[in-house]
Amino acid sequence: MGEVVIRKARKDDLEEIVVLAKQLWDTEKPFDLNLEDNYYETEEGKDGLLKDIRSRKRFFLVALIDTKVVGFVDGNIIENDGVYRQDVAYLSRLSVMDSCRGMGIGTKLIDEFNKTAKERGCSFVKINAFIDNTPAVNLYRKKGFKDYSMYFMMKI
Ligand SMILES: CC(C)(COP(=O)(O)OP(=O)(O)OC[C@H]1O[C@@H](n2cnc3c(N)ncnc32)[C@H](O)[C@@H]1OP(=O)(O)O)[C@@H](O)C(=O)NCCC(=O)NCCS
Repeated sequence: MGEVVIRKARKDDLEEIVVLAKQLWDTEKPFDLNLEDNYYETEEGKDGLLKDIRSRKRFFLVALIDTKVVGFVDGNIIENDGVYRQDVAYLSRLSVMDSCRGMGIGTKLIDEFNKTAKERGCSFVKINAFIDNTPAVNLYRKKGFKDYSMYFMMKI
């Protein structure tokens, strides 16, 4: 297997990114029963991804092995209306092809995301993860992210 290369996502990566976004959705869906079924198979889901790939405001990166997209990460700078002392990047999606996990690709994507965020002037990176998503939680902790907040939800 060739080496892992990280680069900016392009619009012709869309179809491969959709496959990875579906895997991300399938992972997260059991943790939030209010999530729609198969969101990334809808036109809305795909159009949203394409818009985000093209947006200059977002950091949308892909990991490639031998020209095949095997992972992606994306996020943006959080609007700062004077709330934060220093700019914060929000990592909103991360997914590695199920057959390529455990090889350090998620780690590489986070490293590159952090580097990009820093280049764009951010001093912090935030991520949300479902508590029971053990691979993701372990990965973030291993990279040095600290647990610092909780979401609460109830059906009303
Ligand atoms: C989470 C995810 C991105 C990790 O990607 P990856 O390329 O497999 O991660 P890496 O190989 O870089 O692993 C780095 C560390 O993450 C943790 N980790 C990764 N997979 C794990 C698993 N199956 N179980 C427990 N910890 C795991 C470990 O701490 C690992 O370090 P180690 O290899 O020294 O034990 C991948 O599992 C994935 O795409 N999951 C589905 C989508 C998802 O949940 N995204 C995150 C949403 S918040």
